[in-house]
Amino acid sequence: MSTEPVIKRTKDGSTTLYSPRYDQCYHNPNGAVAESRHLFFEQTGILDHIRQNKPFNIFETGFGTGLNFILLLDYLAETEYSSHITYWSVEAYPVGPGTVSGFDFGEEFQPDSYKPLLTDIFGKIRNGLNRFEPANHLTLKLYFGHFDQLFDEEQIPETFDYLFHDPFSPEVNPELWTPGVFRSLKKISSPDALLSTYCAATSARASMAVAGWSVARAGGALGKREMTLASLNPSRLTKWKRLNEKRLIERFENGEF
Ligand SMILES: C[S@@+](CC[C@H](N)C(=O)[O-])C[C@H]1O[C@@H](n2cnc3c(N)ncnc32)[C@H](O)[C@@H]1O
Repeated sequence: MSTEPVIKRTKDGSTTLYSPRYDQCYHNPNGAVAESRHLFFEQTGILDHIRQNKPFNIFETGFGTGLNFILLLDYLAETEYSSHITYWSVEAYPVGPGTVSGFDFGEEFQPDSYKPLLTDIFGKIRNGLNRFEPANHLTLKLYFGHFDQLFDEEQIPETFDYLFHDPFSPEVNPELWTPGVFRSLKKISSPDALLSTYCAATSARASMAVAGWSVARAGGALGKREMTLASLNPSRLTKWKRLNEKRLIERFENGEF
């Protein structure tokens, strides 16, 4: 059986992929674009950061379709942004350029604005670190390999202000939801970094707490009750409902998960 992901349409008209390897879709079936906007841009305050023209860096776990990256480019195009952003991402199983030709990010986007870029990226990507300069103020560093491999092999020189934690769910992709992963992310984070994820599983939140992150919950995207935000600086989380990290750690140590 082929492990190449298959295109699926979501309810906002944008496409996502279904992964036979993980038996899961890459995005919320109610809307791929709407979900990404909510989780990574609207909730996090990143759009203010862009409007204030400040330099910052993003680390994404799971490049997938590249949608989060394309959304960032789109937000930048709407402003006079002239500082610099480095966008790191890691992807173990990049899709083939043929699959990219079926992407449709919906009526908000002209295919001409993102398809040539994504086709170029997925066509050129090789094992290890790949670097692209799609705009004057934006560098993409895309590591083709596993998350653990990246942290074993590469010295990542940047520190990150936003972490888009976007693997598949803990049930099917458990290796990306361990305290070890959140410790690795902690090492590359700025003191005020904000991690965001669609995932609201208590086990995932407990892993973050065990690794030393403060954790909060917010309203989820498109019918999902909750999402999770985490920071090393608890005062970054005052907008949201804080969780009890001590209790999460106790539950983790009691072997509940
Ligand atoms: C939910 S999808 C990511 C969606 C993506 N951010 C987007 O906007 O399309 C999860 C991605 O994580 C990748 N992945 C899963 N396990 C991985 C690992 N251990 N290391 C690196 N990438 C991994 C999968 O191949 C998949 O592309």
